[in-house]
Amino acid sequence: MEQTEKRIGIWVFSGTGNTLKCAEALAAALTERGVPVGLHEIADGAETATERDLVICYPVYGFNMPRILKPFCRHLTGGGNVWFLKTSGEPLHLNDNSSAELIRILRKNGYAIKGEFHYIMPYNMVFRHTDEMASRMWETAQMRISDAANKIANGEETPIKAPLSAKIVSALCRIEHWFYPRNGRLFRVDPKKCVRCQQCVKHCPTKNITFENGRFRFGKNCIGCVRCSFNCQTGAIKIGLIDFMRVNGPYDFTRDPKSAVPGRFCRKPYESYFADKRD
Ligand SMILES: Cc1cc2nc3c(=O)[nH]c(=O)nc-3n(C[C@H](O)[C@H](O)[C@H](O)COP(=O)(O)O)c2cc1C
Repeated sequence: MEQTEKRIGIWVFSGTGNTLKCAEALAAALTERGVPVGLHEIADGAETATERDLVICYPVYGFNMPRILKPFCRHLTGGGNVWFLKTSGEPLHLNDNSSAELIRILRKNGYAIKGEFHYIMPYNMVFRHTDEMASRMWETAQMRISDAANKIANGEETPIKAPLSAKIVSALCRIEHWFYPRNGRLFRVDPKKCVRCQQCVKHCPTKNITFENGRFRFGKNCIGCVRCSFNCQTGAIKIGLIDFMRVNGPYDFTRDPKSAVPGRFCRKPYESYFADKRD
């Protein structure tokens, strides 16, 4: 399909909603500035964008991007401008090289990489932030998204820089793309907690979960997004070897952001991220 549309295509993969929330805010901010946009979810990586200029949105997984983004980018041939919008749970520079593989693919396909916008949103894995911290993150993201919309509307470039440490760590962590499909087969449902609502089956982005003859089966297409376990209302899904890092339940983003206190972990990077309202 020819990628000639004048609108900016905002293409989003989001496991548990943080990235989608930011992408929707960006779409609204661009629309307010008179920039036409199309907002689409990446469901299986086989989609084709019809727009020339794109904002590709994803959550950082293991200092890289979710592997579903690779086939999506390989299909793109329109040769326009690309920005990235990414979310992650921590404001560490180790996350700075996460778009590298996509940049290589897109440049090969004739795209110009214009920049990257990075928002810290509450962890859906590793540990749970407080709802106050989640609200403070969301407040900060909204201000920065407004700045990003100005930059995109003006066609401004924001160079993507990654320190050597981020390059090394992201290269080593690419093993996660091999790990998640295997670990996904180890997911289990606790029959005592499960209420058989099958929301996990319905919402798995790769249709990796089936329910047959009263039993849940997990296939080999898990991408590690944790949508199933994060949204399970009874916390019944165990996520294999990484179950000790499981975080359950949606965040309440409507708390008072001023009462948020960063924990001991990465206190300084969080504080300096919150202090800067620009991208
Ligand atoms: C499998 C997995 C790996 C993750 N790895 C990182 C990471 O390397 N660095 C980080 O800061 N956050 C990491 N996170 C946290 C997410 O990037 C963060 O919570 C993000 O906002 C989730 O977005 P979503 O709700 O759109 O899926 C990881 C989350 C998952 C599920």
